[in-house]
Amino acid sequence: MSQSVAPPIPSLVPETAPFSAEQRAWLNGFFAGLVSLDGAGVTALSAEQSAALMPGATNEFGDTDSGDAPWHDQTLALPDRMKLAEGRPLRRKMMAAMAQQDCGQCGYNCEDYSNLIVTKREERLNLCVPGGKETARMLKSLHEELGKAPAPVVKTAEPAAKVVPATSIPSRDNPAIGTFLSRARLNRAGSEKETWHIEINLAGSGIAYTVGESFGLFPTNDLALVDAVIKALDAPADFPIGGRILREVLTDGVSLAPAPDMLFQLYSYLTGGARRQKAKALAAGEDPDGDAATLDVLAAIEKFRGIRPDPEAFIEALDPLQPRLYSIASSPKVDAGRVALTVDTVRYKLNTRTRLGVASTFLGARIRENAPIKCYVQKAHAFGLPADPTTPIIMIGPGTGVAPFRAFLQERMATKAKGRNWLFFGHQRSACDFFYEDEFAGMKAKGVLTRLSLAWSRDGAEKFYVQDRMREVGRDLWSWLTDGAHVYVCGDAKRMAKDVERALVEIVAQHGARSTDQAIAFVAELKKQGRYQQDVY
Ligand SMILES: Cc1cc2nc3c(=O)[nH]c(=O)nc-3n(C[C@H](O)[C@H](O)[C@H](O)COP(=O)(O)OP(=O)(O)OC[C@H]3O[C@@H](n4cnc5c(N)ncnc54)[C@H](O)[C@@H]3O)c2cc1C
Ligand SMILES: NC(=O)c1ccc[n+]([C@@H]2O[C@H](COP(=O)([O-])OP(=O)(O)OC[C@H]3O[C@@H](n4cnc5c(N)ncnc54)[C@H](OP(=O)(O)O)[C@@H]3O)[C@@H](O)[C@H]2O)c1
Repeated sequence: MSQSVAPPIPSLVPETAPFSAEQRAWLNGFFAGLVSLDGAGVTALSAEQSAALMPGATNEFGDTDSGDAPWHDQTLALPDRMKLAEGRPLRRKMMAAMAQQDCGQCGYNCEDYSNLIVTKREERLNLCVPGGKETARMLKSLHEELGKAPAPVVKTAEPAAKVVPATSIPSRDNPAIGTFLSRARLNRAGSEKETWHIEINLAGSGIAYTVGESFGLFPTNDLALVDAVIKALDAPADFPIGGRILREVLTDGVSLAPAPDMLFQLYSYLTGGARRQKAKALAAGEDPDGDAATLDVLAAIEKFRGIRPDPEAFIEALDPLQPRLYSIASSPKVDAGRVALTVDTVRYKLNTRTRLGVASTFLGARIRENAPIKCYVQKAHAFGLPADPTTPIIMIGPGTGVAPFRAFLQERMATKAKGRNWLFFGHQRSACDFFYEDEFAGMKAKGVLTRLSLAWSRDGAEKFYVQDRMREVGRDLWSWLTDGAHVYVCGDAKRMAKDVERALVEIVAQHGARSTDQAIAFVAELKKQGRYQQDVY
């Protein structure tokens, strides 16, 4: 009897890859299996690619971390996230310290930002806006540990999201100049909200955008606040600082919102006794007088009234004024030379003062028609229309969360896409908070907006939210899902996004006849396939 001889396994792992003969044989067998599965030709992997796939092998950061990130959930508190990252390399702990929204405000996603800090290619530790002071403090303390270790030698190119901008492409580090065109109030009389439809002219700016992306812009501080700070500092407005004057730097260079730890540190150096102890405690994140949450820069100066830091040292102790992001609410297929945003105005009481959200009141109240505006498009965001125009889409966007869906609908109308479109919109009151009501009615009449489901939280005695409406029409939602619909969620990250996901899981369980665990797995699979995308903040 002749014995069949197995063909030799082709050598797909290069001889230079850092493996023992045994490991190389295992990997070659593994890849040979993959090749025979799809039958396609194959290009041998690079030494780095092979190394990354070997169990227990070091990755490009010189550690063996598996890459999973159980802390990557924006609803987890920082201490819980840090607990999940225990025992992991410093770069993973740094990622856990970030707010997990992948919102792009720092210019990266959370993972890339942490990898860049640890490889010493990003020095700024205070860029995570949703993480605020808590994240900045944790990053600082992790960074001190990093200072003791040499920077890992990175063997591959830059992480994907860190695209070094060509000087001609507008970016966060190289913004373009647009022109402010107009603002129009989206709420009617009786609303508790102040939300604006904003339009910005991009003609000649070099900015190009796609629906689903976010628009970054650099606001300026309210001049009344700037002048109040100058007065409280008891410094001359024209004090020279780095070729500019104090008033200018306070207007567009530094954040006047939460007072940073560095400012309290500065005060602790300039005073003694009980005030010094208080300043030191505040710098360490403690709350000696129970007022830490209310201390913006002006309140901090007033708390330490009489201590007069040098204006230059004072400015150095503040955080830089960061750009803000807004979901793009228009399609360039309608007019590539302009972009629209939907902006909710932030105003709240801070002791006896009204604190103004910097960017939202800049757009909603301060900037004048035709004034220049520094801006860019934030592209690092996996949120966009399906490639196939016939794919049905379900869009869930209460409040300003509706912004990208106006853009999606405009785009699908302009491109005559055949796919069905279902929008869930919700807000406080139908009479005064129905954004873009006429436009959506027009889109419905034209057949572009297949279905519009509404939820008004303050019309009745009980709260009623978009997820309540979703549950009511769960059978139809399930039917759209089985037809291959993509689901999109935009708006509040802290509560709404989680509640909507929970409702979808319930709908899948009930109408798809699955257990809760199977329904959770189903939604997780939708996410993996890019069929469940979120733009939350
Ligand atoms: C990807 C992305 C897309 C976004 N899209 C939109 C959008 O389409 N529309 C939109 O309106 N916003 C959107 N935002 C939010 C936007 O970027 C700003 O965060 C928002 O406009 C507030 O910025 P601001 O400068 O006006 O306020 P800030 O000066 O930054 O003040 C806001 C801060 O004030 C504090 N605060 C707010 N209210 C209170 C209160 N009642 N009590 C105490 N403290 C309070 C909170 O710490 C809050 O973070 C988006 C954010 C991201 C990351
Ligand atoms: N920090 C916070 O507590 C908080 C809360 C909300 C929004 N925001 C932020 O405020 C900004 C603008 O808000 P916005 O204009 O888009 O409107 P919004 O304040 O988010 O409200 C839009 C609608 O969503 C409803 N809503 C509240 N909680 C919800 C939940 N858990 N699930 C589903 N819907 C819910 C609101 O109802 P009711 O208001 O009647 O409950 C309202 O009808 C965003 O940046 C958002 O992140 C912050």
